[in-house]
Amino acid sequence: MRNLVAHKSCFLVLLLLLLLFTSQFSSATKKTFNRDQPCKRFVLYFHDILFGGNDVANATSAAVANETGLGNFKFGKLFVFDDPMTKDKNYLSPAVARAQGFYFYDMKNDYNAWFAYSLVFNSTEHKGTLNIMGADIMAAQTRDLSIVGGTGDFFMARGIATFETDLFQGAKYFRIKMDIKLYECY
Ligand SMILES: *[C@@H]1O[C@H](CO)[C@@H](O)[C@H](O)[C@H]1NC(C)=O
Ligand SMILES: *[C@@H]1O[C@H](CO)[C@@H](O)[C@H](O)[C@H]1NC(C)=O
Ligand SMILES: *[C@@H]1O[C@H](CO)[C@@H](O)[C@H](O)[C@H]1NC(C)=O
Repeated sequence: MRNLVAHKSCFLVLLLLLLLFTSQFSSATKKTFNRDQPCKRFVLYFHDILFGGNDVANATSAAVANETGLGNFKFGKLFVFDDPMTKDKNYLSPAVARAQGFYFYDMKNDYNAWFAYSLVFNSTEHKGTLNIMGADIMAAQTRDLSIVGGTGDFFMARGIATFETDLFQGAKYFRIKMDIKLYECY
């Protein structure tokens, strides 16, 4: 009988130790992020001028595949862009980075552009890339896309890019305000 009690308490002590170790381990690896306190933040404007056939000098993006006719929201239409990113709203201002990538429409019953691109920085201020992807539900006032990684000055960065349409002149020209917030900086 005494043996059994001893075994039981021994087991309880082991269990407690195990709990203690696992909780310490998880608190050491769990990171908490405060949305309001990014480690780095800046706002840039994205300018997209669609190639019309003759405006080679001015255009920065081109349609690569046409819509498919599935639904009324351009499903399947794909654009590739090499767009300037500026600090203000003027597309002729010096570009601090280029946004290079693509978007396509992928929703049958609303306008949703799915973006995947790199912000390529090559200036005295910054060298490196931030890589961004996600859904851009165009009807929403603001949209959050994931910053999934970075290189160079943005080595291993992660965060959120909040999109807000600033001007939309059909597909011909549109400007998006991008609020870049990094929550992991190294
Ligand atoms: C793309 O598709 C639309 C709708 O089907 C059509 O009106 C347009 O002419 C097409 N554009 C090209 C370049 O094929
Ligand atoms: C970055 O800028 C330098 C200096 O203007 C240029 O020589 C180099 O080719 C650029 N690199 C890229 C990847 O654009
Ligand atoms: C370039 O594109 C912008 C935006 O569509 C337009 O306002 C501007 O007039 C164009 N410039 C030239 C020289 O075509």
